[in-house]
Amino acid sequence: MAVDVLLGLQWGDEGKGKIVDVLTREYDIIARFQGGPNAGHTLEFENIKHVLHTIPSGIFHQGIKNLVGNGVVIDPIIFKKEVEALKGYGVNVNESLLISRKAHLILPSHRILDAASEASKGKNKIGSTLKGIGPTYMDKTGRNGLRVGDIELDDFEQRYNALLDKHRQILSHYEYSDYNLDSMEAEWMEAVDYLRSLNLIDSEHYINEAMKSGKSILAEGAQGSLLDIDFGSYPFVTSSTTMCAGSCTGLGIAPNRIQEVFGIFKAYCTRVGSGPFPTELDNEVGELLRKNGHEFGATTGRPRRCGWLDLPALKYAIDINGVTQLIMMKSDVLSGFETLQVCVGYEYKGTKIDHLPYSIDEGLVKPIYKELAGWSEDITQLEHYDEAPQSLKDYVEFLQQELGVPITILSVGPNRNQTIRIEKHATA
Ligand code: GDP
Ligand code: IMO
Ligand code: MG
Repeated sequence: MAVDVLLGLQWGDEGKGKIVDVLTREYDIIARFQGGPNAGHTLEFENIKHVLHTIPSGIFHQGIKNLVGNGVVIDPIIFKKEVEALKGYGVNVNESLLISRKAHLILPSHRILDAASEASKGKNKIGSTLKGIGPTYMDKTGRNGLRVGDIELDDFEQRYNALLDKHRQILSHYEYSDYNLDSMEAEWMEAVDYLRSLNLIDSEHYINEAMKSGKSILAEGAQGSLLDIDFGSYPFVTSSTTMCAGSCTGLGIAPNRIQEVFGIFKAYCTRVGSGPFPTELDNEVGELLRKNGHEFGATTGRPRRCGWLDLPALKYAIDINGVTQLIMMKSDVLSGFETLQVCVGYEYKGTKIDHLPYSIDEGLVKPIYKELAGWSEDITQLEHYDEAPQSLKDYVEFLQQELGVPITILSVGPNRNQTIRIEKHATA
């Protein structure tokens, strides 16, 4: 059977975790294909909020396999904590969690290198989550990395020491000494032992055999398209391929296996970390979005920058991913705004454009907004799209028309149950 892909279309935190959890029942396998503990995917049900970092968001459903693919980078310490927390909720990880031998390992020294690099950049820092993501992917493409499969080899410690020596050399070029490697190392080695006891598999073989035997797969993305290493707002991006193509390289599936591509976006826009954000609202409206949407990072707790929806950026993300269905999140957060603004183009070097140019740096692009009517109703208890306020239906209809892709799911609150299906060709 085919693979469906679910990914974020903005700067991350669109609500991927929630929707993967909602859709999991329709699949046999949920597979993460890139990123690592920089991600924070929030799931809410039965009055409990769970934040997953490396583990796929289908893990709370019995009988479903959850695969951490080869494109993911794993910090054994964080991974162990995540698994232990899940066990506390009665999740049978022996039964449901699988880890690719080809996934790369984040070493303590990768985290130190991340911190040293950011510190050296001063005010030009990326705003990294400091989980060691950049240095780990650099070692992967530089052909120096350590992989999960290496922990099963006799000479693992030699390999570890060889990489650590390289890192020490690089670190000597930074003026950075704010770390205690010895204590980090002891905890890491213990966590590596723990990782050895989990289900380590040849995941590309597993997933292809699963497809041949008719199993259905949902590939779960992390971050978002505007943080993609190639197509994001470089250099203020993450270090992996967050777009649809990343699901092929990050899982070992062929492009012609991909069927539906679910693109998730918030009804407005947020960004955490540095980098350009044309529709950012550095004012009381932005504050209100942050307050109403509880816009604080799930991984770092940092306040998220907030702004209006940016259609040129969304269209760009839809194109590069081949999105077939859209999912609009956090619609409830817009309740109470008399009017809403949507960016439909930019003023760029004296002309009007409706696409995302090479650079969206501050001062280069000025958003052109279209104003739409807001709605005052609380929609968090809404169960059927038919009963939605007319202005919300108009907002959905306007976006579908502009984007040329149907919005098939509307999220009206953080809980699993606060999710509404919209019939594919429903009109307002
Ligand atoms: P992810 O990284 O894409 O999985 O998203 P995060 O979990 O980092 O951030 C999304 C946040 O919004 C989480 O706190 C969710 O609980 C919350 N959330 C998800 N959907 C909705 C929604 O429709 N309405 C509201 N108010 N909150 C939501
Ligand atoms: P999820 O999967 C939002 C951002 C960081 C920083 C930049 C680089 O929860 O949507 P990195 O740690 O990768 O070197 O940071 O990318 N970033 C995210 N922003 N959601 C995420 O993941 C993110 N993962 C990384 O804030 O700006
Ligand atoms: Mg997140």
